[in-house]
Amino acid sequence: MGTPTVADFAGRDIISTRDLTKDEILFLLDLAEQFEDPSPSVLQGKIMASLFFEPSTRTRLSFESAMLRLGGRTLGFAEAGVSSAAKGESLADTIRVAEGYADAIVIRHPREGAARAAAEAASIPVINAGDGANQHPTQTLLDLFTLRKEKGELEGLRVGFLGDLKFGRAVRSLINTLGRFNAQMTFISPPSLRLPNYYLEELTEQAINWKMATDVFPACRDLEALYVTRIQRERFPDPLEFERVKNVYQLDRSFLDEAPDDIAILHPLPRVNEISPDLDPFPQSVYFQQAHNGVTIRKALLASVLGALS
Ligand code: CP
Repeated sequence: MGTPTVADFAGRDIISTRDLTKDEILFLLDLAEQFEDPSPSVLQGKIMASLFFEPSTRTRLSFESAMLRLGGRTLGFAEAGVSSAAKGESLADTIRVAEGYADAIVIRHPREGAARAAAEAASIPVINAGDGANQHPTQTLLDLFTLRKEKGELEGLRVGFLGDLKFGRAVRSLINTLGRFNAQMTFISPPSLRLPNYYLEELTEQAINWKMATDVFPACRDLEALYVTRIQRERFPDPLEFERVKNVYQLDRSFLDEAPDDIAILHPLPRVNEISPDLDPFPQSVYFQQAHNGVTIRKALLASVLGALS
């Protein structure tokens, strides 16, 4: 396989980080750097359908912002209840209709595999904006973009993941990719919210360096970045189990007394109480910049899959 070019992405679906090679990921991150500043209206005349069957602030709005900033337009819905899914319409039918109204589809759905199913039903590019606890590939790209910006490079980074590693799709997408950059990963969670064995076994098979912990310290002492996640209330089958773990980690400014001075604290957001706002002013807290990077990376992705750069 040769060096990636923009032509490799035209018309392509973006469903899982596993569908992207390491070179393609680096290509997209480099391309995104060109989209940090105001960009030309390369998507004038193009329409993006944003079909969100699950709540979102960042992903939906940053996709829409990216499209508008590139001169394109958007249509769609922000919850399943206002679409004909509420009347029993199948996902495949919704997709077959929407593809007649737009040039690309961005979909978020609570069911794992729904984005892949949508891509199979569509003849236009489909981008996965999160499918259940499975994948969130554009979040991963913006996370990598942020990590590279903050730490200079991705290769061999020492990254901790803290919180709900069982249900968090952002974590699942990101670890697979960071593994390919030889990251050393520390998974910090209560036993009931550990990363599923399937993922750990896969990392071991790939000779990726990982370890597990339950306490924040000493696990954080040698990290270059800490990726904090929310406990995902909506994915717990048992509400009592959620009550038991909902406050398990709460970082505040005292975290910085013990953490490395140059640690970068990331979070896909939304947060609940796992990071206190009193950490926000510190330069180590990069989660709002991370969210803003979502527009940059999504501009690069939309321009690529819509063939505006070839
Ligand atoms: N990070 C993220 O996916 O946020 P939203 O759920 O607000 O889109």
